[in-house]
Parts: sequence; C-alpha cells; structure tokens
Amino acid sequence: MPVPREIPADRFAFGCHRFGFGPAPKLPNGESGGEVDIERHVVPMVRAALDLGIRTFDSAVLYRATLQLGRALEILGVPPGEIRFQTKCLRYLGLATGGAVEHQPEALLQGIPARYHGLTDRWDPSPAGIEQQICRERIEFGGGNLYGVALHDSPDMEKQVGLNWETDVRPAVRFLEGTKASGFVERIGLGVKVPAFIHRFIAEEPGSLDYAGLTFCPAILGDLLGIIQAAQRGPKFEVTLMGINYGQAFTLTEDPATAPPFLYNYEMANDAERALMSQYFRICGSTPLLHLAAAVAGLLVVHFPDVMTQVVTSSMTPARLYETVKLIREAEVPAPVWRELKEAGLIPREFPTT
Ligand SMILES: NC(=O)c1ccc[n+]([C@@H]2O[C@H](COP(=O)([O-])OP(=O)(O)OC[C@H]3O[C@@H](n4cnc5c(N)ncnc54)[C@H](OP(=O)(O)O)[C@@H]3O)[C@@H](O)[C@H]2O)c1
Repeated sequence: MPVPREIPADRFAFGCHRFGFGPAPKLPNGESGGEVDIERHVVPMVRAALDLGIRTFDSAVLYRATLQLGRALEILGVPPGEIRFQTKCLRYLGLATGGAVEHQPEALLQGIPARYHGLTDRWDPSPAGIEQQICRERIEFGGGNLYGVALHDSPDMEKQVGLNWETDVRPAVRFLEGTKASGFVERIGLGVKVPAFIHRFIAEEPGSLDYAGLTFCPAILGDLLGIIQAAQRGPKFEVTLMGINYGQAFTLTEDPATAPPFLYNYEMANDAERALMSQYFRICGSTPLLHLAAAVAGLLVVHFPDVMTQVVTSSMTPARLYETVKLIREAEVPAPVWRELKEAGLIPREFPTT
C-alpha cells in the first residue's frame, strides 16, 4: 500500500462558485437538479467541508454565492468567525446594456437562477466600486474581516474591454493595501487564469502580493513551477491552486480527441487543446486523468510547503468532495507513466514525482 501524502486539511479550500452559478447536482434519474437550494444543496456541502476539516471558503463577487454560504453557516450554527473567508473583486454582475456581452460559455450558464437572467459580467476596478463589492461580500458572509481579497480575472478584462494598469490595477491595489492596514482585509491576492499575469503583477506592484490564485491543471505545470520559483526568490508570496482539473478537462474518461465538447480553462476546448489532452490521455493509459491532476496537486503541496498553501476545490456533491481530497492525498501515477509524460514534454523533467 503506498503511503498517503501528508497534506493537512488546512491546505484545502472549498470553492463556492456553484452556490451561485449552480447547477444543483443531477437527480438520480439523470434529470437536471434545477436551481440551487440552500437547505438541500448548500448546507450539506458546507457541512461536508467542515467535517473534512476544511476551514477556508473561496468566493467572488461575480459568483453571487456568498449569501448562500452565510445562510448555510447560520443554519449550521457555525459562527462565521470560525472560518476563513476569501473573495475576489473587480468583476461583477451588471446590466447587459451598452454593448456588454456575456463572456461565460453556455455550459457555465446552466442552472443560473432566474433572478440573474439578463445580467452579465462587467468590471469595476475603481476604489469606490471595490469598497462596495467587498463590503457586500462581508455582509453576505456574515463575518468580521475578510481572510483575503483577490483581483479577479484582470487578464480577462484586458481581453474583453482593455486594461490600463494605472487606472485599472494600481488604484485597486493601493485601496486594498489601505483595507489591509486597517485590518479589514488580511491578505491581497490574485485570482487569474493566465500565469504570465502573476509575473507582470509582481514586477509592477513589488511586495503587494500575499497570494497568487491560479486556475490550474497539469498542462500548465511548467508555468506554475516558474511562479513557485518567483515566490521563493522573494518578495515572498503564496500560491493557491484554483481547481486542479481546468473545469472538466482532467475528468474525461474517454479520449479527449473524440469526446463530446468539454471545458478547458472554463472555455470550450479547441482542436489544439483536444489534441494536447488526448496525448495525456493516451500516455496515462489505465490511470485516469483525474488521478494525474490530483497527484500533481498533492505533490506540489508536499514538495513546496512554504509556497503552495491552498488547493481550492469544488463540487455540489458531498461524496465528490471527500473523493477529491482523498485523491489529492493518495492518487498514484505509475513510474513508467511519469517517465513517458516527461519524455513527451507534458510534465517538466524537474518535477518531483515521488
Ligand atoms: N470562469 C472562471 O474563471 C471560473 C469558473 C469556475 C471556477 N473557477 C475557479 O476555480 C475554482 C475551483 O473550481 P473547480 O472546483 O470547478 O475546478 P476543478 O478542480 O478544476 O474541477 C472540478 C470539477 O471536476 C469535477 N470532478 C471532480 N471529480 C470528478 C469525478 N470523479 N468525475 C467527474 N467529475 C469530477 C467536478 O464535478 P462536480 O462538480 O460534478 O462534482 C467539477 O466540475 C473555483 O472555486 C473558482 O475559484 C473559475
């Protein structure tokens, strides 16, 4: 029996996005679970996370998920001060007017409650906007201060509406530094899907970053190792894996080359991404892609304990959360598979696989 990786429960964070986005888990007969219900869906998930020893909950203004978390804590009789709550700002749900368009793929919009229909993702990087956003998060969560506030998806803002560092990033950072000095916000972070943005941020805002949250999967391990090195060189910051499967990409159980459309970094996979995932799939053989992703995450936490402080994972099914935590601690990838993945350039040669 292989020895489980020693990963304390405080290295896991629960991602709340589906408390708002939905959908609820499918019914046993395969039908849609419909809209998320706090008592039926959120309370059991929060209870499962707490039973696993998870104390950190991750949300975002955009997710419209924080009120549900706060209500679930109330129902469970858990004082909010007993958990650590981190959120993300800048990106919010606004009016779909003036040329604003929805950027989330259709697959992510299933199950969004009717009250949010007709609205879309927009940006407000102004200090006054951020103040309103994070105060609302605090009220909905129900606690005192915020364990962390991350700038959410600035690279997406750049792609969609343009980004001027002097007006769209720097004032937000200065404002958050003020909230940190006052004790309202404990840590300043990033929540992004583009690794290069983290290097740009630490060059532009030296010493401001407490944690870099990166949407993760093994296909960007090389980039991630570069970020870990930057964190070790200093000024020191922590790294948070926002997911380990790139949405669904590393949960596929059929060859991604021919599988039905799937998400890759929360957008529909294109031909090149399908081909890349197919390479992983074929080399992994009987080892599920999901196990590869979990093993990589677990090894990162074990080998870089000073930097890799959080793995954010999420589900709406309590048994799935138990399974993911267990896999991160226990999933095994046979040595010949690691070797072949390295030879194919799919896993960096220097990555420690034991
Ligand atoms: N647009 C965005 O930028 C965006 C969107 C979403 C999330 N995020 C960030 O990423 C964080 C983590 O997200 P995440 O947990 O979705 O990422 P993830 O860890 O990459 O993937 C979780 C997904 O894997 C699925 N999964 C896990 N075990 C499985 C199994 N055995 N079989 C089939 N499917 C399995 C889950 O399905 P089930 O849910 O069915 O259990 C869930 O859809 C979020 O909290 C958020 O901060 C960003």
